[in-house]
Amino acid sequence: MSDAKKIAVIAGDGIGPEVIAEAEKVLKRTEELFGYKFELEYGLFGGIAIDERGTPLPEDTLAICQKADAVLLGAVGGPKWDTNPKELRPETGLLGIRKALGLYANIRPAVIFDCLKEASTLKPEVLEGTDLIVVRELTGGIYFGDKLRREGPNGQEAVDTCTYSVKEVERIARSAFEIAKTRKKKVASVDKANVLETSRLWRETVIRVAADYPDVELEHVLVDNCAMQLLRRPSSFDVIVTENMFGDILSDEAAMLTGSIGMLSSASLGEGSFGLYEPIHGSAPDIAGKGVANPIATILSVALMFRLTFGYHEAAEAVEKAVKEVLDAGHRTWDIATDKSAAIGTGAMGDLIVAAI
Ligand code: NAI
Ligand code: MG
Repeated sequence: MSDAKKIAVIAGDGIGPEVIAEAEKVLKRTEELFGYKFELEYGLFGGIAIDERGTPLPEDTLAICQKADAVLLGAVGGPKWDTNPKELRPETGLLGIRKALGLYANIRPAVIFDCLKEASTLKPEVLEGTDLIVVRELTGGIYFGDKLRREGPNGQEAVDTCTYSVKEVERIARSAFEIAKTRKKKVASVDKANVLETSRLWRETVIRVAADYPDVELEHVLVDNCAMQLLRRPSSFDVIVTENMFGDILSDEAAMLTGSIGMLSSASLGEGSFGLYEPIHGSAPDIAGKGVANPIATILSVALMFRLTFGYHEAAEAVEKAVKEVLDAGHRTWDIATDKSAAIGTGAMGDLIVAAI
Protein backbone atom coordinates (compact mmCIF):
# COMPACT_ATOMS: atom_id res chain seq x y z
CA MET A 1 0.00 0.00 0.00
CA SER A 2 1.06 3.54 -0.60
CA ASP A 3 -0.35 7.00 0.07
CA ALA A 4 -3.00 8.29 -2.33
CA LYS A 5 -1.51 10.01 -5.35
CA LYS A 6 -3.33 13.05 -6.66
CA ILE A 7 -3.77 13.12 -10.41
CA ALA A 8 -5.24 16.15 -12.18
CA VAL A 9 -7.18 14.94 -15.20
CA ILE A 10 -7.71 17.48 -17.98
CA ALA A 11 -9.24 15.74 -20.95
CA GLY A 12 -9.66 18.74 -23.27
CA ASP A 13 -11.32 18.57 -26.68
CA GLY A 14 -12.03 16.23 -29.57
CA ILE A 15 -10.75 12.71 -28.91
CA GLY A 16 -9.16 13.91 -25.64
CA PRO A 17 -12.06 12.71 -23.43
CA GLU A 18 -12.33 9.45 -25.42
CA VAL A 19 -8.70 8.41 -24.89
CA ILE A 20 -8.61 9.71 -21.31
CA ALA A 21 -11.55 7.43 -20.44
CA GLU A 22 -9.40 4.42 -21.39
CA ALA A 23 -6.44 5.70 -19.37
CA GLU A 24 -8.75 5.98 -16.36
CA LYS A 25 -9.69 2.32 -16.74
CA VAL A 26 -5.97 1.50 -16.57
CA LEU A 27 -5.54 3.58 -13.41
CA LYS A 28 -8.46 1.77 -11.80
CA ARG A 29 -7.14 -1.65 -12.73
CA THR A 30 -3.66 -0.96 -11.38
CA GLU A 31 -5.23 0.24 -8.11
CA GLU A 32 -6.92 -3.16 -7.80
CA LEU A 33 -3.86 -5.15 -8.78
CA PHE A 34 -1.07 -3.28 -7.03
CA GLY A 35 -2.88 -1.67 -4.10
CA TYR A 36 -2.22 1.90 -5.22
CA LYS A 37 -4.63 4.69 -4.48
CA PHE A 38 -5.25 7.44 -7.00
CA GLU A 39 -7.34 10.53 -6.33
CA LEU A 40 -8.52 12.04 -9.58
CA GLU A 41 -9.56 15.68 -9.86
CA TYR A 42 -11.01 16.99 -13.08
CA GLY A 43 -10.45 20.36 -14.73
CA LEU A 44 -11.80 22.11 -17.80
CA PHE A 45 -9.12 22.90 -20.36
CA GLY A 46 -8.76 24.03 -23.96
CA GLY A 47 -11.69 24.71 -26.29
CA ILE A 48 -14.30 23.38 -23.92
CA ALA A 49 -12.99 25.76 -21.24
CA ILE A 50 -13.15 28.65 -23.72
CA ASP A 51 -16.80 27.81 -24.43
CA GLU A 52 -17.80 27.39 -20.81
CA ARG A 53 -15.47 29.79 -19.00
CA GLY A 54 -14.08 32.20 -21.57
CA THR A 55 -10.45 31.12 -21.16
CA PRO A 56 -8.47 28.05 -22.26
CA LEU A 57 -6.81 27.69 -18.85
CA PRO A 58 -9.20 28.62 -16.02
CA GLU A 59 -7.61 29.43 -12.68
CA ASP A 60 -9.28 26.54 -10.88
CA THR A 61 -7.91 24.10 -13.46
CA LEU A 62 -4.41 25.45 -12.92
CA ALA A 63 -4.94 25.23 -9.15
CA ILE A 64 -5.98 21.56 -9.44
CA CYS A 65 -2.81 20.87 -11.43
CA GLN A 66 -0.60 22.74 -8.97
CA LYS A 67 -1.97 20.70 -6.06
CA ALA A 68 -1.57 17.39 -7.88
CA ASP A 69 1.37 14.98 -7.98
CA ALA A 70 0.91 14.57 -11.73
CA VAL A 71 -1.28 15.81 -14.55
CA LEU A 72 -2.89 13.62 -17.20
CA LEU A 73 -3.84 15.61 -20.28
CA GLY A 74 -5.85 14.50 -23.33
CA ALA A 75 -5.62 16.93 -26.21
CA VAL A 76 -6.93 20.35 -27.15
CA GLY A 77 -7.88 22.27 -30.26
CA GLY A 78 -10.27 22.19 -33.15
CA PRO A 79 -11.49 24.22 -36.13
CA LYS A 80 -14.17 25.84 -33.99
CA TRP A 81 -11.55 27.93 -32.17
CA ASP A 82 -8.97 28.34 -34.97
CA THR A 83 -10.00 31.87 -35.90
CA ASN A 84 -10.18 33.10 -32.29
CA PRO A 85 -7.73 35.76 -31.08
CA LYS A 86 -4.59 34.31 -29.46
CA GLU A 87 -5.81 34.52 -25.84
CA LEU A 88 -8.92 32.56 -26.80
CA ARG A 89 -7.15 29.71 -28.53
CA PRO A 90 -6.79 26.25 -26.97
CA GLU A 91 -3.05 26.07 -27.84
CA THR A 92 -2.46 29.20 -25.74
CA GLY A 93 -3.66 27.15 -22.77
CA LEU A 94 -1.11 24.47 -23.63
CA LEU A 95 1.84 26.90 -23.65
CA GLY A 96 0.40 28.56 -20.54
CA ILE A 97 0.13 25.39 -18.48
CA ARG A 98 3.68 24.27 -19.33
CA LYS A 99 5.06 27.67 -18.39
CA ALA A 100 2.95 27.98 -15.21
CA LEU A 101 3.99 24.54 -14.01
CA GLY A 102 7.68 25.10 -14.84
CA LEU A 103 7.82 22.09 -17.16
CA TYR A 104 11.12 22.55 -18.97
CA ALA A 105 11.87 19.00 -20.10
CA ASN A 106 9.72 17.30 -22.72
CA ILE A 107 10.31 13.58 -22.98
CA ARG A 108 9.13 11.53 -25.91
CA PRO A 109 9.96 7.88 -26.23
CA ALA A 110 9.93 6.34 -29.71
CA VAL A 111 9.73 2.59 -29.41
CA ILE A 112 9.27 0.17 -32.25
CA PHE A 113 6.71 -2.53 -31.65
CA ASP A 114 7.88 -5.47 -33.74
CA CYS A 115 4.36 -6.31 -34.79
CA LEU A 116 3.80 -2.78 -36.11
CA LYS A 117 6.90 -2.48 -38.25
CA GLU A 118 4.70 -2.80 -41.32
CA ALA A 119 3.06 0.52 -40.35
CA SER A 120 6.35 2.42 -40.71
CA THR A 121 7.68 3.86 -43.95
CA LEU A 122 11.19 2.62 -43.11
CA LYS A 123 12.55 -0.84 -43.84
CA PRO A 124 12.05 -3.28 -40.93
CA GLU A 125 15.79 -4.07 -40.78
CA VAL A 126 16.62 -0.37 -40.29
CA LEU A 127 14.10 -0.08 -37.46
CA GLU A 128 15.09 -3.31 -35.70
CA GLY A 129 15.83 -2.63 -32.03
CA THR A 130 14.91 1.08 -32.10
CA ASP A 131 14.11 2.33 -28.61
CA LEU A 132 15.04 5.97 -28.16
CA ILE A 133 13.91 8.96 -26.14
CA VAL A 134 14.03 12.57 -27.25
CA VAL A 135 14.55 14.99 -24.36
CA ARG A 136 13.57 18.44 -25.60
CA GLU A 137 14.13 21.73 -23.76
CA LEU A 138 10.64 23.22 -23.56
CA THR A 139 10.66 26.70 -22.08
CA GLY A 140 13.61 28.51 -23.65
CA GLY A 141 15.24 29.22 -27.00
CA ILE A 142 13.85 30.91 -30.05
CA TYR A 143 10.17 30.08 -29.35
CA PHE A 144 10.28 32.21 -26.22
CA GLY A 145 12.77 34.89 -27.34
CA ASP A 146 11.94 38.50 -28.23
CA LYS A 147 10.29 38.93 -31.59
CA LEU A 148 9.90 42.04 -33.64
CA ARG A 149 9.01 43.55 -36.98
CA ARG A 150 10.83 46.58 -38.30
CA GLU A 151 11.67 48.55 -41.40
CA GLY A 152 15.12 47.70 -42.71
CA PRO A 153 17.11 49.06 -45.66
CA ASN A 154 15.32 46.58 -47.95
CA GLY A 155 11.82 46.98 -46.55
CA GLN A 156 10.08 45.06 -43.79
CA GLU A 157 12.13 42.66 -41.64
CA ALA A 158 11.26 40.19 -38.89
CA VAL A 159 13.51 39.17 -35.99
CA ASP A 160 13.35 36.15 -33.68
CA THR A 161 15.93 35.91 -30.95
CA CYS A 162 17.34 32.74 -29.42
CA THR A 163 18.65 32.86 -25.87
CA TYR A 164 19.87 30.09 -23.59
CA SER A 165 21.38 30.41 -20.14
CA VAL A 166 23.89 27.99 -18.66
CA LYS A 167 21.31 27.15 -15.99
CA GLU A 168 18.68 26.20 -18.57
CA VAL A 169 21.09 23.96 -20.45
CA GLU A 170 22.46 22.40 -17.28
CA ARG A 171 19.09 21.27 -15.95
CA ILE A 172 17.91 19.74 -19.23
CA ALA A 173 21.29 18.02 -19.71
CA ARG A 174 20.99 16.59 -16.22
CA SER A 175 17.48 15.26 -16.99
CA ALA A 176 18.88 13.52 -20.07
CA PHE A 177 21.82 11.95 -18.24
CA GLU A 178 19.57 10.80 -15.39
CA ILE A 179 17.26 9.07 -17.88
CA ALA A 180 20.20 7.57 -19.79
CA LYS A 181 21.53 6.11 -16.54
CA THR A 182 18.41 3.92 -16.34
CA ARG A 183 18.68 2.83 -20.00
CA LYS A 184 21.47 2.06 -22.48
CA LYS A 185 23.67 4.79 -20.96
CA LYS A 186 24.14 6.81 -24.14
CA VAL A 187 23.41 10.50 -24.67
CA ALA A 188 23.47 12.20 -28.06
CA SER A 189 23.53 15.97 -27.58
CA VAL A 190 22.22 17.73 -30.67
CA ASP A 191 23.23 21.29 -31.53
CA LYS A 192 24.50 23.51 -34.34
CA ALA A 193 27.75 24.46 -32.65
CA ASN A 194 29.48 25.13 -35.96
CA VAL A 195 27.38 28.27 -36.45
CA LEU A 196 25.27 29.20 -33.42
CA GLU A 197 26.58 30.84 -30.25
CA THR A 198 23.73 29.37 -28.17
CA SER A 199 24.82 25.96 -29.48
CA ARG A 200 28.43 26.55 -28.43
CA LEU A 201 27.23 27.40 -24.91
CA TRP A 202 24.98 24.34 -25.07
CA ARG A 203 27.89 22.05 -25.99
CA GLU A 204 30.30 23.44 -23.36
CA THR A 205 27.64 23.03 -20.70
CA VAL A 206 26.67 19.50 -21.70
CA ILE A 207 30.34 18.48 -21.60
CA ARG A 208 30.61 19.90 -18.08
CA VAL A 209 27.48 18.06 -16.88
CA ALA A 210 28.72 14.84 -18.51
CA ALA A 211 31.67 14.80 -16.12
CA ASP A 212 29.20 13.88 -13.35
CA TYR A 213 28.09 10.83 -15.34
CA PRO A 214 31.28 8.94 -16.21
CA ASP A 215 29.36 5.74 -17.01
CA VAL A 216 27.21 7.46 -19.66
CA GLU A 217 28.66 7.75 -23.15
CA LEU A 218 28.25 11.22 -24.76
CA GLU A 219 28.27 12.02 -28.47
CA HIS A 220 27.69 15.43 -30.09
CA VAL A 221 25.66 15.45 -33.28
CA LEU A 222 24.93 18.48 -35.45
CA VAL A 223 21.20 18.87 -35.94
CA ASP A 224 21.20 18.43 -39.72
CA ASN A 225 23.27 15.28 -39.39
CA CYS A 226 20.97 14.01 -36.63
CA ALA A 227 17.97 14.40 -38.95
CA MET A 228 19.75 12.07 -41.37
CA GLN A 229 21.03 9.59 -38.80
CA LEU A 230 17.53 9.16 -37.33
CA LEU A 231 16.52 7.65 -40.67
CA ARG A 232 19.77 5.79 -41.27
CA ARG A 233 20.60 4.28 -37.89
CA PRO A 234 17.71 4.95 -35.46
CA SER A 235 18.57 1.94 -33.32
CA SER A 236 21.99 3.37 -32.40
CA PHE A 237 20.38 6.18 -30.37
CA ASP A 238 19.38 5.94 -26.74
CA VAL A 239 18.73 9.42 -25.30
CA ILE A 240 18.79 12.46 -27.61
CA VAL A 241 18.92 15.81 -25.80
CA THR A 242 18.39 19.06 -27.62
CA GLU A 243 17.07 22.61 -27.50
CA ASN A 244 13.48 23.66 -28.05
CA MET A 245 13.16 24.17 -31.81
CA PHE A 246 15.52 21.35 -32.85
CA GLY A 247 13.65 19.09 -30.42
CA ASP A 248 10.28 20.06 -31.86
CA ILE A 249 11.39 18.97 -35.31
CA LEU A 250 13.43 15.90 -34.37
CA SER A 251 10.80 14.52 -32.00
CA ASP A 252 8.19 14.62 -34.77
CA GLU A 253 10.66 12.89 -37.07
CA ALA A 254 11.41 10.25 -34.44
CA ALA A 255 7.67 9.78 -33.88
CA MET A 256 7.16 8.88 -37.51
CA LEU A 257 9.69 6.03 -37.25
CA THR A 258 7.14 4.12 -35.25
CA GLY A 259 4.31 4.41 -37.74
CA SER A 260 1.37 6.00 -35.97
CA ILE A 261 0.96 9.12 -33.95
CA GLY A 262 -1.71 7.25 -31.97
CA MET A 263 0.99 5.15 -30.26
CA LEU A 264 3.28 7.77 -28.76
CA SER A 265 3.34 9.03 -25.20
CA SER A 266 5.10 12.01 -23.67
CA ALA A 267 6.06 13.51 -20.35
CA SER A 268 6.84 17.10 -19.47
CA LEU A 269 8.90 17.44 -16.32
CA GLY A 270 10.13 20.22 -14.09
CA GLU A 271 11.92 20.19 -10.76
CA GLY A 272 11.27 17.16 -8.59
CA SER A 273 9.01 14.29 -9.54
CA PHE A 274 6.01 16.34 -10.72
CA GLY A 275 5.11 15.79 -14.35
CA LEU A 276 2.48 16.33 -17.02
CA TYR A 277 1.70 13.32 -19.17
CA GLU A 278 -0.06 13.36 -22.53
CA PRO A 279 -0.24 11.62 -25.87
CA ILE A 280 1.75 13.48 -28.53
CA HIS A 281 -1.21 13.61 -30.90
CA GLY A 282 -3.79 16.38 -31.05
CA SER A 283 -7.55 16.38 -30.71
CA ALA A 284 -8.06 14.70 -34.11
CA PRO A 285 -11.30 16.55 -35.00
CA ASP A 286 -11.64 14.36 -38.10
CA ILE A 287 -12.37 11.26 -35.98
CA ALA A 288 -13.68 12.82 -32.75
CA GLY A 289 -16.92 11.36 -31.43
CA LYS A 290 -16.65 8.24 -33.57
CA GLY A 291 -15.10 5.99 -30.94
CA VAL A 292 -12.26 4.94 -33.23
CA ALA A 293 -9.28 6.81 -31.75
CA ASN A 294 -6.30 4.78 -30.65
CA PRO A 295 -6.01 5.05 -26.83
CA ILE A 296 -2.52 3.48 -26.66
CA ALA A 297 -0.58 6.78 -26.66
CA THR A 298 -2.55 7.90 -23.61
CA ILE A 299 -2.31 4.53 -21.87
CA LEU A 300 1.48 4.51 -22.42
CA SER A 301 1.55 8.05 -20.98
CA VAL A 302 0.08 6.56 -17.80
CA ALA A 303 2.92 4.02 -17.80
CA LEU A 304 5.40 6.90 -18.12
CA MET A 305 3.69 8.63 -15.18
CA PHE A 306 4.06 5.47 -13.10
CA ARG A 307 7.75 5.28 -13.91
CA LEU A 308 8.88 8.93 -13.85
CA THR A 309 6.64 10.52 -11.20
CA PHE A 310 5.56 7.71 -8.89
CA GLY A 311 8.41 5.23 -9.26
CA TYR A 312 5.83 2.47 -9.80
CA HIS A 313 8.12 0.49 -12.08
CA GLU A 314 6.28 -2.79 -11.72
CA ALA A 315 2.98 -1.27 -12.84
CA ALA A 316 4.69 0.64 -15.67
CA GLU A 317 6.11 -2.60 -16.98
CA ALA A 318 2.79 -4.40 -16.58
CA VAL A 319 0.99 -1.75 -18.64
CA GLU A 320 3.66 -1.69 -21.36
CA LYS A 321 3.67 -5.48 -21.50
CA ALA A 322 -0.12 -5.56 -21.75
CA VAL A 323 -0.04 -3.18 -24.73
CA LYS A 324 2.55 -5.34 -26.46
CA GLU A 325 0.55 -8.50 -25.75
CA VAL A 326 -2.66 -7.09 -27.18
CA LEU A 327 -0.84 -5.88 -30.32
CA ASP A 328 0.99 -9.20 -30.70
CA ALA A 329 -2.40 -10.93 -30.56
CA GLY A 330 -3.31 -8.94 -33.67
CA HIS A 331 -5.76 -6.39 -32.25
CA ARG A 332 -5.63 -3.04 -34.05
CA THR A 333 -7.42 0.27 -33.96
CA TRP A 334 -8.14 1.84 -37.35
CA ASP A 335 -4.96 3.97 -37.53
CA ILE A 336 -2.62 0.97 -37.18
CA ALA A 337 -4.73 -1.69 -38.90
CA THR A 338 -3.61 -3.14 -42.23
CA ASP A 339 -7.02 -4.75 -42.60
CA LYS A 340 -9.24 -1.75 -41.81
CA SER A 341 -12.41 -3.88 -41.77
CA ALA A 342 -11.11 -5.78 -38.73
CA ALA A 343 -10.24 -2.63 -36.74
CA ILE A 344 -11.60 -2.31 -33.21
CA GLY A 345 -12.78 0.83 -31.41
CA THR A 346 -11.31 2.93 -28.62
CA GLY A 347 -13.23 1.25 -25.80
CA ALA A 348 -12.56 -2.27 -27.05
CA MET A 349 -8.83 -1.59 -27.26
CA GLY A 350 -8.84 -0.12 -23.75
CA ASP A 351 -10.73 -3.12 -22.37
CA LEU A 352 -8.33 -5.61 -23.97
CA ILE A 353 -5.32 -3.81 -22.51
CA VAL A 354 -6.93 -3.58 -19.08
CA ALA A 355 -7.68 -7.31 -19.19
CA ALA A 356 -4.06 -8.05 -20.16
CA ILE A 357 -2.47 -6.06 -17.32
P1 NAI B 1 -3.79 15.45 -34.74
O1 NAI B 1 -2.70 14.77 -34.01
O2 NAI B 1 -4.99 15.82 -33.96
O3 NAI B 1 -4.26 14.52 -35.97
C1 NAI B 1 -3.40 14.18 -37.05
C2 NAI B 1 -3.94 12.93 -37.76
O4 NAI B 1 -3.68 11.80 -36.92
C3 NAI B 1 -5.45 12.97 -37.96
O5 NAI B 1 -5.76 12.34 -39.17
C4 NAI B 1 -6.00 12.18 -36.82
O6 NAI B 1 -7.22 11.53 -37.09
C5 NAI B 1 -4.89 11.16 -36.57
N1 NAI B 1 -4.81 10.81 -35.14
C6 NAI B 1 -4.36 11.58 -34.13
N2 NAI B 1 -4.46 10.95 -32.95
C7 NAI B 1 -4.99 9.74 -33.23
C8 NAI B 1 -5.35 8.62 -32.43
N3 NAI B 1 -5.17 8.61 -31.09
N4 NAI B 1 -5.88 7.54 -33.03
C9 NAI B 1 -6.05 7.53 -34.37
N5 NAI B 1 -5.73 8.54 -35.17
C10 NAI B 1 -5.21 9.64 -34.61
O7 NAI B 1 -3.14 16.74 -35.40
P2 NAI B 1 -3.84 17.89 -36.28
O8 NAI B 1 -4.91 17.32 -37.12
O9 NAI B 1 -2.74 18.63 -36.91
O10 NAI B 1 -4.49 18.87 -35.22
C11 NAI B 1 -5.83 18.79 -34.78
C12 NAI B 1 -6.03 19.76 -33.62
O11 NAI B 1 -5.25 19.31 -32.50
C13 NAI B 1 -5.54 21.18 -33.92
O12 NAI B 1 -6.46 22.07 -33.33
C14 NAI B 1 -4.19 21.25 -33.26
O13 NAI B 1 -3.84 22.56 -32.89
C15 NAI B 1 -4.40 20.38 -32.05
N6 NAI B 1 -3.18 19.80 -31.49
C16 NAI B 1 -3.15 19.67 -30.13
C17 NAI B 1 -2.09 19.05 -29.51
C18 NAI B 1 -2.15 18.86 -28.05
O14 NAI B 1 -3.21 18.97 -27.47
N7 NAI B 1 -1.05 18.55 -27.41
C19 NAI B 1 -0.93 18.56 -30.29
C20 NAI B 1 -1.10 18.68 -31.72
C21 NAI B 1 -2.19 19.29 -32.29
MG1 MG C 1 5.66 19.79 -33.18
